[in-house]
Amino acid sequence: MTEAAEQVKEQVVDLTGANAILDKYVDMHGALMPALQEIQEFYGYIPEPTVHLTAERLNVYSSQIYGVLTFYAQFHLQPRGKYIIRVCMGTACHVKGAARIADTVKDRLGVVHAETTEDLKFTAEYVACIGACGMAPVIMVNDATYGSLTVQKVDEVIEKYQAMG
Ligand code: FES
Repeated sequence: MTEAAEQVKEQVVDLTGANAILDKYVDMHGALMPALQEIQEFYGYIPEPTVHLTAERLNVYSSQIYGVLTFYAQFHLQPRGKYIIRVCMGTACHVKGAARIADTVKDRLGVVHAETTEDLKFTAEYVACIGACGMAPVIMVNDATYGSLTVQKVDEVIEKYQAMG
C-alpha cells in the first residue's frame, strides 16, 4: 500500500459502544459535549468513524464536531497510552534538567511529545509548569507526581509502570 493510501485507510472501529452511548443523547439539547466525553471515555480517544456516527445520530455537521474536538485540549483523535507521562518543561524544571528527563523517556520508550508507544502503554507529553516547582524536575504519570528526578529515578518510575501491565 502506498503511503498516501495508508493515510486515507479508514480506521476499523466497532461502533456498538458509540451507538449505545448516542442512544442516550438523541434529541437531547446540549448533547454534543457529554456524548463526546463519554465516547472518549469508552474508546480512550475519539476514533474518526465515531465522529461521523455522532454527526448522523445527533444531527450536527461533522465539521462542527471537529471544531469542538480541536478547540478543547481534553479530546484526542489518536489512540493514547494507558499511562500518560507528562514531562514538565516549565522554567524551574528546565533549569533543573527537564531536557535530560525528556531524553530518558525517549531513550527508554522511544517516544517524544505527543507520541504513543506501539503497545499503547505510554504516551509522552511535554507540558508547562504543573505547580510542583519545589520538586523540580518533575513528571506526572496519570495522576501521580514524581519529583526531584534523576535519570535513575525516571528509570525506576518507568519500570514500575511497565511491571503494572
Ligand atoms: S516548572 Fe516544573 S513544576 Fe513548575
